[in-house]
Amino acid sequence: MKTEAKRICLFLIGMLFLILSTANADSSVQVLVKKVKGKKVCDKGWECKGWSEYCCNLTISDYFDTYQFEELFAKRNTPVAHAAGFWDYKSFITASAVYQPLGFGTTGNKTTQMKEIAAFLGHVGSQTSCGYGVATGGPTAWGLCYNKEMSPSHEYCDDYYKFTYPCAPGAEYYGRGALPIYWQYNYGKIGEALKVDLLNHPEYIEQNATLAFQAAIHTWLTPQKKGQPSAHEAFVGTWKPTKNDTSSKRFPGFGTTMNILYGDRVCGKGDVDDMNTIVSHYLYYLDLMGVGREEGGPHEVLTCAEQKPFNPSAPTQSSSR
Ligand SMILES: *[C@@H]1O[C@H](CO)[C@@H](O)[C@H](O)[C@H]1NC(C)=O
Ligand SMILES: *[C@@H]1O[C@H](CO)[C@@H](O)[C@H](O)[C@H]1NC(C)=O
Ligand SMILES: *[C@@H]1O[C@H](CO)[C@@H](O)[C@H](O)[C@H]1NC(C)=O
Ligand SMILES: *[C@@H]1O[C@H](CO)[C@@H](O)[C@H](O)[C@H]1NC(C)=O
Repeated sequence: MKTEAKRICLFLIGMLFLILSTANADSSVQVLVKKVKGKKVCDKGWECKGWSEYCCNLTISDYFDTYQFEELFAKRNTPVAHAAGFWDYKSFITASAVYQPLGFGTTGNKTTQMKEIAAFLGHVGSQTSCGYGVATGGPTAWGLCYNKEMSPSHEYCDDYYKFTYPCAPGAEYYGRGALPIYWQYNYGKIGEALKVDLLNHPEYIEQNATLAFQAAIHTWLTPQKKGQPSAHEAFVGTWKPTKNDTSSKRFPGFGTTMNILYGDRVCGKGDVDDMNTIVSHYLYYLDLMGVGREEGGPHEVLTCAEQKPFNPSAPTQSSSR
């Protein structure tokens, strides 16, 4: 009799767990829909919150899974990687949740969505890679190997901004992050946007992968100057080029995202290695995600080899601002 009671009790506990976990799984995919001024807007819980039309589309984790992140950044936790144990899928998705309601990875159809993630991560992979030519797995297998510049040559404190963005005593503003941030005024500006005191604590970026991804996605979504597109807008095609853009060979696509992020460091110089390395990360990721590199488009859309830079750097370049 006693063992029978025990068995029933265990059974009931088991049922309770089943109910709880099912309820949990359900609530994580629950889509709330309403109409605001004739427009359909949605809320998908933590990953895409806040009544946005973008949240009616797939979320990033719907089409980009942990195992794909692991494939893209296969070597990042090997013993020779410089940031082993730092970067992970969860940090990326957590960071992206802030920006998915604004269209990051949620704009357009599934192909466009996947391409944007491949493009964004293509930049990230190429900027944090330690795969040089002969590395096992090939140079594109080594993205997210770094989370900071290893031997900075200086402190990246620009006197020109000493009143707007004064350098904190002892702080160093060398490259850190997923799309590396350099110079105190860039830490200052991004810190203001993210409401984190990066001017006084630039080290937060190398201590917190979620914050590092957030800063990178913020950069992707933000125009460098008024009147210019963000990398996101240039990529998903919400940006419409002017005549001046077209005559400067700036078309919506991956090439223009390089123009925005790096300018004449990589663009307008023909098919140089610095540019090709970035492009090859993007194409490699398109393949791994199952989109296929042919979706990268023709040379003039995919690259910025012939583009005039949006923001040409000053001819006498003492500090690369
Ligand atoms: C949502 O996806 C559809 C196609 O799947 C697309 O036409 C639409 O533009 C997307 N919504 C937004 C806001 O990008
Ligand atoms: C997805 O959207 C792009 C851009 O609007 C379009 O060129 C493409 O044909 C669409 N793909 C599918 C499968 O609908
Ligand atoms: C890391 O950054 C995220 C995003 O800003 C923040 O929510 C989180 O609390 C930070 N984690 C730690 C341990 O400080
Ligand atoms: C056109 O582009 C060039 C550089 O590519 C720039 O110097 C010029 O100011 C632009 N003109 C307009 C009207 O935007």
